[in-house]
Amino acid sequence: MITDLFGRTLDYLRVSVTDKCNLRCAYCMPAEGVSLVPRRAVLTFEEIERIVKIFAGLGVRKVRVTGGEPLVRRGIVDLVGRIVRTRGIESVPMTTNGLLLAQFAGVLKEAGLSRLNVSLDTLRADRFAEITGSAGLPGVLEGLRAARDAGFRRLKINAVLIRGFNDDELFDFADLADAWDFDVRFIEYMPFGGTSWDRGKFMPASEAVARLKGKFDIEPLEKRAPSDPAYAFRIPGRRGTIGFIASVSESFCQSCTRLRLTAEGKLIPCLHADVSLDLREPMRKGATDEELGALVQEGARLKPRAHEDFMKNFSAEAARKRKMISIGG
Ligand code: GTP
Ligand code: 5AD
Ligand code: SF4
Repeated sequence: MITDLFGRTLDYLRVSVTDKCNLRCAYCMPAEGVSLVPRRAVLTFEEIERIVKIFAGLGVRKVRVTGGEPLVRRGIVDLVGRIVRTRGIESVPMTTNGLLLAQFAGVLKEAGLSRLNVSLDTLRADRFAEITGSAGLPGVLEGLRAARDAGFRRLKINAVLIRGFNDDELFDFADLADAWDFDVRFIEYMPFGGTSWDRGKFMPASEAVARLKGKFDIEPLEKRAPSDPAYAFRIPGRRGTIGFIASVSESFCQSCTRLRLTAEGKLIPCLHADVSLDLREPMRKGATDEELGALVQEGARLKPRAHEDFMKNFSAEAARKRKMISIGG
């Protein structure tokens, strides 16, 4: 088992398979872009497979495939299949921006992918273009349809809540949840390196909940798992759910079960801490599975009790170093 210094068991690994992306979301991708990492710096499929096997041996049961945009990595379906077939791994979901889902949904389902979370912040084409730099909204909607037709169920939509940008679309997203039977989750806007975050654009989940309460009789739902970052509501008589991930205003670090692996093979114990531990070089220099397992345990011990209070201590300097695009959410 992997446990950290605060008694949390870590059984959920998020694997970023590429830091490339076919969108340029203003809250994720630094405005100046990111320098492309040389091809040999990126873990091969064999390397990812080996690391996942080591994590599985240490009790990890869920491996989420993320990016950048995971579907731009060549051979992604093969990689998903390899992770799915790893002994001990019970669930292999993916977080994607949906642009390529129309093409990939069917083959991902066949490869054994468990579930899909799709990032979609607005239902208006002009706003979509403004925030992502792409005219891709129809493509994402087509991707959602393809995912449903391929048999993916309980699809989650992630929308980053941005004051003055999409906070007037709460009810439209509630309609989307009902129409498609989706779980929509609004994520509080977190400060990350080089992005357009500022205090004025931040809206606490509580404010959005209050607005929903003003229009609907919302019913709070039990969390599906204690480690679920979202708290959700249903609207009586409607399908789907509306949830909130309040990472900024109400940290849920005490129930965090996650570890992250970057495309370059660095183990990141916390989304918001400037610590990481490299697994790639030791692996390429011939470390055994036992030695790599010991490094993973060492990385887990770097996991802080909780992340900093963003609103109190937001330091542009510290946040600048952390790039969402390479951490994968
Ligand atoms: P499921 O519960 O399996 O659906 O996945 P998830 O919510 O872990 O995955 P997803 O990729 O959809 O992540 C949603 C968002 O939750 C992330 O992009 C982050 O914004 C937020 N989040 C996920 N993990 C953490 C975490 O460890 N700390 C904080 N503060 N936020 C997180
Ligand atoms: N704040 C909150 N969520 C973010 N994401 C990317 N950048 C940010 C940010 N600055 C979300 C994406 C995606 C998930 C993996 O992370 O929308 O759904
Ligand atoms: Fe790409 Fe997702 Fe980041 Fe948008 S949020 S730039 S889609 S990785």
